Amino acid sequence: MSKLQLQNVDACVFDAYGTLFDFNSAAGAARDELGEDWQRLSDLWRLKQLQYTWLRGLAQHHAGFWQVTGDALDFALAALKIERPGLRDRLMNLYLQLNTYPEVPAMLDELKRRGMKLAILSNGTPPMLAAVVSNSGLEGVFDAVLSVEDVGVFKPHPSVYRLAAERLGIAPARICFLSSNGWDAFSAKAFGFQVVWCNRFGQVAERIPATPDGEIADLSALPEIVCP
Ligand code: LAC
Repeated sequence: MSKLQLQNVDACVFDAYGTLFDFNSAAGAARDELGEDWQRLSDLWRLKQLQYTWLRGLAQHHAGFWQVTGDALDFALAALKIERPGLRDRLMNLYLQLNTYPEVPAMLDELKRRGMKLAILSNGTPPMLAAVVSNSGLEGVFDAVLSVEDVGVFKPHPSVYRLAAERLGIAPARICFLSSNGWDAFSAKAFGFQVVWCNRFGQVAERIPATPDGEIADLSALPEIVCP
């Protein structure tokens, strides 16, 4: 297999949740209350969170990701019959303090050292993104932290991907987009970005347009893959 190499890349644009920030770390940090249920709750919370973004998009009932995240948590807690006073608020607060995946800070530093423009493009609301960026010590690292709230519709609507190109002033073909969410990576490729799928969870390929340029298991090799 030939080495993955993407040329003519002026900016790396990252998905947030699941790509830079570990969404499992919220329920994981409440293991003292959730016990063995923590992973099931985390899985269902994430599943419903994403489903609600797509359902709200199709039904043209947009709401901010904070509300969607809370609605999904309410569903997951009810489905698993978990009732504990204060737990919902605790989990929502933990969602603002997610851990980065271990390789992320050094990888971002190295890309920045090489002069790469860096951005986040996420479903998260601006306050949610500001909180996770600041709580993980990444303030000042990104040239732009972009939220779908500026277009009022969730991923994978093409207007979301277009927002990144417009705000950075860089043509889509000169942007490398990174997501661990297969559906996000495939859809970003269909939009016109160069795309590397950070397939952290060993998922099989999606059957939607189009196929990313490459796949990596985590982001540590990214600085060696992208070049201007
Ligand atoms: C995001 C979700 C899709 O950050 O992970 O946009």
